[in-house]
Amino acid sequence: MAQSPFRRMTTPGGYQMSVAMTNCGERGWITDHTGYRYDPVDPRTGVPWPAMPPAFRDLARRAAEQGGFTGFAPDACLVNRYEPGTRLSLHQDKDELDYAAPIVSVSLGLPATFLFGGMARSDKPRRFRLVHGDVVVWGGASRLAYHGVAPLADGEHALLGRQRINLTFRKVL
Ligand code: SIN
Ligand code: FE2
Repeated sequence: MAQSPFRRMTTPGGYQMSVAMTNCGERGWITDHTGYRYDPVDPRTGVPWPAMPPAFRDLARRAAEQGGFTGFAPDACLVNRYEPGTRLSLHQDKDELDYAAPIVSVSLGLPATFLFGGMARSDKPRRFRLVHGDVVVWGGASRLAYHGVAPLADGEHALLGRQRINLTFRKVL
């Protein structure tokens, strides 16, 4: 966070996201007026994203394995910061080249309602409460499921204060 600070990115449609983002790993997910992509360089700093800490990589690999996906080797970790009222609308994670690899999500701080839908945006999503320390793995037939986060309820977390941090691990290349 010190090296590649959180920033609220602007989508191709011209909207500023309410979620603030940064990345670590060999690739980082970004959006701007030209589209969505993974980039080895942080456009804000002009230098590569910070390395993915080995402890993060190991956690993601072990979680994927427990979810039935062996050999998960993430090369990107998107770090999302939600403040009260912040939401993430339904979307698919589809900018990766390799859909055989799952997505691994780690939740920290304030609890959130995770929305997990189907293959169409219009499919009614199931709602899951995610609390500090929860890990979600999705892949296989669910790899391209629509998902999002409901507006974050206000609160105070003992370790992280008035925010939720989510890490999502992806295999991009
Ligand atoms: C994401 O879909 O990239 C993040 C999901 C979450 O914050 O739980
Ligand atoms: Fe996502």
